[in-house]
Amino acid sequence: QEQAFLASVRDAATVSTRRRRTPRPPVDLDAPAPEGFENAPDTDPAVLESRAWAQEVLTRRVEVPEPVRIRSTDDVDAVVARAVAVREHWAGVTPAQRAALLHRAAVHLEAARSDLVATAVQEAGKTVPEVDPEVSEAVDFARYYAERAVELGDGATPHAVFRPDGVTVVTPPWNFPVAIPIGSVLAALAAGSPVVIKPAPPTPRCAGVAVAAVHRAMDELGVPRDVLQVVDSPEGEIGRHLVSHPDVARVLLTGSIETARLFGGWRPDLDVIAETSGKNALIVTPSADVDLAVADAVRSAFGHAGQKCSAASLLVLVGAAGRSQRLHRQLADAVRSLRVGPPTDLSTVVGPLTEPASGKLLDALTALDEGERWLVQPERLDDEGRLWRPGVKHGVRPGSPFHLTEYFGPVLGVMRVETLDEAIDLQNAVPFGLTGGIHSLDEREIAHWLERVEVGNAYVNRHITGAIVQRQPFGGWKASSIGPGAKAGGPNYVAQLGRWQDAPDVP
Ligand code: ALA
Repeated sequence: QEQAFLASVRDAATVSTRRRRTPRPPVDLDAPAPEGFENAPDTDPAVLESRAWAQEVLTRRVEVPEPVRIRSTDDVDAVVARAVAVREHWAGVTPAQRAALLHRAAVHLEAARSDLVATAVQEAGKTVPEVDPEVSEAVDFARYYAERAVELGDGATPHAVFRPDGVTVVTPPWNFPVAIPIGSVLAALAAGSPVVIKPAPPTPRCAGVAVAAVHRAMDELGVPRDVLQVVDSPEGEIGRHLVSHPDVARVLLTGSIETARLFGGWRPDLDVIAETSGKNALIVTPSADVDLAVADAVRSAFGHAGQKCSAASLLVLVGAAGRSQRLHRQLADAVRSLRVGPPTDLSTVVGPLTEPASGKLLDALTALDEGERWLVQPERLDDEGRLWRPGVKHGVRPGSPFHLTEYFGPVLGVMRVETLDEAIDLQNAVPFGLTGGIHSLDEREIAHWLERVEVGNAYVNRHITGAIVQRQPFGGWKASSIGPGAKAGGPNYVAQLGRWQDAPDVP
């Protein structure tokens, strides 16, 4: 494995040297687009085919089944009672039967790809290239957790059985409106628990379309639909009544650390597993391939307009990398050239914010702190404040608000240090520990960083968003995670949703 790793580093180095010898034309930002540029025909059949598919998707009108309407605490009690009524049944089916449900769900989720993408573009403002992989991730979760369900059965003996948690409430986020809701739901179903999902208020339709795909699989296999109920999004007292209901055994939350603390305050004995916030840094050392580092920084910082817990919010440049004119110019060019627009335009790279920028994000997009200056100044493009040309600020100081705060928007801060250890200190100084990256072609630097960095997902010479199920199980350390800490899409996620119990000897 080590040999393969070193070979890959060497290969990357070779590519990089070759690339550096090829002169690239200077970028003239003020030059008008060549005539006919917008309408240049694509000749690659794969591009044409996927574009035709995406265009068809954008015109879709998707029917979404109605969620259970919750208007009172009595409605909550009724939903939880229905889940309790099927609890024993679902805990009692064999792990192979649960796996069969997940495999069928994978088929139906794949069949619903166009509807899921269309709904997420319309409702969440995600671009097609951002949301299409989410559908793949949902399908991956289904297949992967199906295998984990079977393992739970394999692990059982006459003396030890797996007891699922029981009624599980899933409260997902709006920024990954397909993969995260459905991944959490499928994990709980794989463990043998009935689920009530309360979609994030901005994206109920995405959750509804995904749940409908799982319901189709349940209908085929004769699983009662009460095993998975979707409710609308009760807030305030009613939301609190659901989360803190005594018959709810477990909550799977993906959201802010504040929400996680709120839940814990409502019912201190509640088992909450929470994926929360991040303040993620990408380090670039002098040995890095600048082309790759810039491309990965831009992708990590501005995909879905920076609205990802995994997004890069800090770029920490070490030594000569921090003084490199070339790196700074390329970064500025790359950010300025990002196409900002509505998600229904297939050429859009940076789409709208889900809510207009306000509070600390608006401050980060419009104001500079001591020592900071704009490398690229953000620009508001609409009246509402949802569409922003992304920005990069230089000179972020250690311990400053920008260093330590999660903003969830299209602004990246650059910090400069002299040594790799200083860079790692800055990276580790944040309260969170979700994702992080290093761009370096020096294997000693990489090994040293991996030893010291305090994040759950540590990426080497790669963008730091878009974890892949099984290959990069996702989850953070420190304030980025609450609960036992098993990672989503990893080997222990399903197994943490229950307990092993000694079965009494039968005389
Ligand atoms: N799983 C998502 C990512 O890795 C949050 O970007």
